Amino acid sequence: DRRPIIAIDGPAGAGKSTVARSVAKQLGLFYLDTGAMYRALTWFVLEAGVDLRDEPAVAELAHQCEIDFQTDTAIPVVLVNGQDVTQAIRTPEVTAHVSTIAAQAAVREALVKQQQSYGRRGGIVVDGRDIGTHVFPDAEVKIYLTASIQERARRRQLDLKSMGQPAANLADLEQAIFERDRKDSTRTISPLRKASDAIEIQSDAMSVADVLNTIVSLYQEKT
Ligand code: C5P
Repeated sequence: DRRPIIAIDGPAGAGKSTVARSVAKQLGLFYLDTGAMYRALTWFVLEAGVDLRDEPAVAELAHQCEIDFQTDTAIPVVLVNGQDVTQAIRTPEVTAHVSTIAAQAAVREALVKQQQSYGRRGGIVVDGRDIGTHVFPDAEVKIYLTASIQERARRRQLDLKSMGQPAANLADLEQAIFERDRKDSTRTISPLRKASDAIEIQSDAMSVADVLNTIVSLYQEKT
């Protein structure tokens, strides 16, 4: 018997992690950021100087890359083999390469297994691209969170600014988001898709609090 699972999927920059974190806090659930796991492995591969397209070498690194989360802080800390990579996994370089890593079969197999073991007992909010379709297909609440590409680029620009990263122009951000969504939704294995039983939330005109309240109400209806 497991506790409920809330799955939040959607394209890049839709605000999934901000929303997932606040939903988890409000409902007293654990939060798992699966994108951070793909980013952590991408960072590890770049650090190792291995060609990102060398699938056997990347698979080998996936097994040497131990990813942990510390969630007792406001922004969850991500560790790779004990090293704090919270900031390092958010650089434009990691962001530009993560979809190449995330498309590989051995990578997804290794990371999905870890995600499923985190969620085995439920009581968790999980965000990503394939959570409702593949990782937790029996999640009690499935959300597909979207926003227009212009709005997502605008939000990403604010995020980068608040993290003290170099200023990026909106057109470049839109292009990068477009390209990442294209790769994530056209890959062979578990592409980005709205699960048939997911509820879509288009958040252009919504605040984080609006989205939070919508998801919390859905959760309360279902449990
Ligand atoms: O959510 P975030 O933007 O941090 O995800 C980074 C990348 O990780 C995505 O662009 C995608 O390539 C990959 N990802 C994935 N499956 C997930 C979560 C993220 O393929 N469940």
